[in-house]
Amino acid sequence: MPNDSLTVTDNRTGKNYELEVKNGTISAMELRQIKISDDDFGLMSYDPAYKNTASTESRITFIDGAKGILRYRGYPIEQLAEQSSFLEVSYLLQNGELPSRRQLEEFTHNITYHTMVHENIRELIDAFRYDAHPMGILLSTVGAMSTFYPDARDIESAENRRLQSYRLIAKMPTLAAYAYRHRRGLPYVYPDNDLSYAGNFLNMLFCMTERRYTPNPVVEKALDVLFILHADHEQNCSASAMRAVGSSHVDPFSSLAAATAALYGPLHGGANEAVIRMLNEIGSKSKIPEFIRRAKEGESRLMGFGHRVYKNYDPRAQVIKKLAYQVFDAVGKNPLIDLALELERIALEDEYFVKRKLYPNVDFYSGLIYQSMGLPMDLFPVIFAIGRTPGWLSQWEEMLTDPAQKIARPRQVYLGEGERKYVPVSER
Ligand code: ACO
Repeated sequence: MPNDSLTVTDNRTGKNYELEVKNGTISAMELRQIKISDDDFGLMSYDPAYKNTASTESRITFIDGAKGILRYRGYPIEQLAEQSSFLEVSYLLQNGELPSRRQLEEFTHNITYHTMVHENIRELIDAFRYDAHPMGILLSTVGAMSTFYPDARDIESAENRRLQSYRLIAKMPTLAAYAYRHRRGLPYVYPDNDLSYAGNFLNMLFCMTERRYTPNPVVEKALDVLFILHADHEQNCSASAMRAVGSSHVDPFSSLAAATAALYGPLHGGANEAVIRMLNEIGSKSKIPEFIRRAKEGESRLMGFGHRVYKNYDPRAQVIKKLAYQVFDAVGKNPLIDLALELERIALEDEYFVKRKLYPNVDFYSGLIYQSMGLPMDLFPVIFAIGRTPGWLSQWEEMLTDPAQKIARPRQVYLGEGERKYVPVSER
C-alpha cells in the first residue's frame, strides 16, 4: 500500500478504497467510485463556501494563514512593498518572474499608453445619477468596455490576452477617477502619461485648475504600496468570481466586471469603508467596550477584523499600519487612528477575539490612509479593485492555460420536493 494514499472504508458496504493523496489533497472525483449500487451516482464532498476545497493548483500567491505569510510568486509581501513598484509587481504576478530593466520599461510603456478610454465611456458615466456609488459605475463601465473591444473575445490567443491585460490594468484608474469626478460634478481629467501609475491616478482624481498636476510624492508612493498590497490574494471571493465567470470563456472585461462586483460586497472589498463607518459610529474611546460587547454578542461585527485564511496578524495590515504614519506626517494625522489603535488593543486582549484568532486584516487601517489622502469612503473599494486587477488577470490566465480546468460548475445536494403534479392557479 503506498504511503501517499488514504484508505477509506465505506461502512454501508464494507468495501475499502484507496485514494491517492497528492499535494495534501484527495481528488473529489475519486470519491465518485464509492457507491452502494451500480445506479448510485457515487459519493460527493459537501463544502459550502469552499472552506476546505482547493479549486485549482496555483503558482501565483502563497498564503500561510496560521503564520501570517503572504508571498507573490515566492517573494514576501513585505519585501515587495518596501522595494518594488506596483507595475513591477503586476509584471511579476502575470509572468512569474521579476522583469529585467528592459522588460519593465516595455511593460510600463504598454500600460502607460493604454490609459485613455473611449469618449462614449465618458458619456456612459454621465448617464449615472449624481450620487451613484463609484464601485457600481466601475463594474458597469468595465463590463461595457467588452463591447468596445470585441477582439477581447479571442481568449485562445496568448498575445491577445496580454493586450487585454494591458488595457485593463491601464484603464481601471481612468474609469475609477471618472466615476469619482462624476460624483463630485467635476470635469473629467485625461490621463497624463508623464506621471507614474499612482501619480497619474491622483492627477485624474484631484487636478483642478492647475496646468500640470504634481502629486505629493509621499502620497504617490503610499498609493503605489497600497496597490502592491492588494495586488493578489489567491482564491478569494473576487478571484474565484474571475475564474468562474472566465471559465465560460467570456471576454476578460466581462469576467473582471464580475470580479469587481464580488469585491463590492461589505464582507470583501467593502470592509475598509465599513471600518470608517464603524469608527465614526463608535465616536470615542469610552464607547469601545460597549461596541466590543455588541460584537461579541453577534449584534455587530468588528469590521476589519477576522479573515477566512489568516488566523494571525494579516501581514498587509502590518505594512499598512507603518505606511499610515508616513502619510499622516505628509498630509496630517487622521484623528480616527487613535480610536483604531485603542480598538485593536482592546480586541487583541479580549478572550473572544483571541480564541477565534481574529486579528486586524488589510482593511482595518487602509481606510484611514485613504481618508487622510482626501478620498471619500465609497472610493475605497474602487482603489482596492485597481490594485487587484493584475491579480485577477493572473488568476484568469492561469485558469485558461490549466488543462485541468473546465467550465466551473459545482454540484448540489438536492433536498427539495420530489416530483409533483402542476395545479392550475384556479385550483390553488
Ligand atoms: N467581529 C466579531 N466576530 C467575528 C468577526 C468580527 N469581525 N469575524 C468573525 N467573527 C466570529 C464569528 O461570529 C464566528 O464566531 P462563532 O464561532 O462564535 O460563531 C467566528 O468568529 C468565525 O467567523 P466566521 O464568520 O465563521 O469566519 P469566516 O471565515 O466565515 O469570515 C470574514 C471571515 C467574513 C472576513 C469575517 O471575519 C468578517 O465578517 N469580518 C469583518 C469583515 C471584514 O473585515 N472583511 C474583510 C476581509 S479581508 C478582505 O476581504 C480583503
